[in-house]
Amino acid sequence: MSMRKLFAATTLVVVAAAASVPKCAAFPSSMIEYSSGFKQPKPPLVQPEFTANFVQHKWDETLSHIMTGYIDNSPAKGMVRVNEAYDDAPASSVFNYANVTGDGLVDNVMTIYNGTTPYVWQGYVNSNYPIFQQDFLAKADAVFGGIVTRQFNGDVASVSVIPVTVYVNSCNVIVGYDYFSPGRRTRVVTDFFNIQVQTGN
Ligand SMILES: *[C@@H]1O[C@H](CO)[C@@H](O)[C@H](O)[C@H]1NC(C)=O
Ligand SMILES: *[C@@H]1O[C@H](CO)[C@@H](O)[C@H](O)[C@H]1NC(C)=O
Repeated sequence: MSMRKLFAATTLVVVAAAASVPKCAAFPSSMIEYSSGFKQPKPPLVQPEFTANFVQHKWDETLSHIMTGYIDNSPAKGMVRVNEAYDDAPASSVFNYANVTGDGLVDNVMTIYNGTTPYVWQGYVNSNYPIFQQDFLAKADAVFGGIVTRQFNGDVASVSVIPVTVYVNSCNVIVGYDYFSPGRRTRVVTDFFNIQVQTGN
C-alpha cells in the first residue's frame, strides 16, 4: 500500500468513528435567554443508563479534592459504581440506592487498593454521586437555568433542583453536575466525557 493510500484509509476510519457519535440538534430559540421566543422548557427526561469518564473537584472549609475516574450510573440496577484515582491509591465505590436511610444516606461499599490486600469499608454515606433516574428532573419540577458552555461538552442546558444543577445536552444526555451544601460550605463540580449511553432499557 502506498503512503497516500494508507493515509486515505486512516482518514476514513477516523471519519467512520466520529459518525458513530450521536449528533445532537442545536437548542431551539425558545430556550435561548433574551430571545423574544423564549418559553421555559419542561424539565427533560434524561438518559438514565450510562457510563462515562469524569473529573470531579470537591471543596469545603477544610479540604480540596480533585479526582478523576469512571462512573456507571444505572437506576435499573439501583446503583452507581465509581472507580476513581485520588492521592496514593485507586479506589472503587459502589453506592446501593436500593438501601437508603430516611434522611437520604446511601449504603456504600468502598474498596481502596492501597496494600497487598485491598482495604474494604461499608456504611451509610452522604453520597457525592447522586443516582440519575430518567424522570428525576421532571418529578422535582426542576428549574431551567439557561444554556451554558461546559468544558468537554460545549453548549448544554443547565437545570436545577436545589441544591443540584445538572447539565444536559440536547440529546438528553447528562454531561455533568454541580452541587453545594452550606453546612461545611461544600461545593462539588463534576464534568463527564467519553459518555456511553445504554439504550433499550
Ligand atoms: C489503606 O487505607 C485505609 C483507609 O484510609 C487505612 O485504614 C489502611 O491502613 C490503609 N492500608 C495501608 C496498607 O496503607
Ligand atoms: C444496608 O446498608 C448498611 C450500611 O452500609 C449495611 O450495613 C447493611 O448490611 C445493608 N443492608 C442490605 C440488605 O444490603
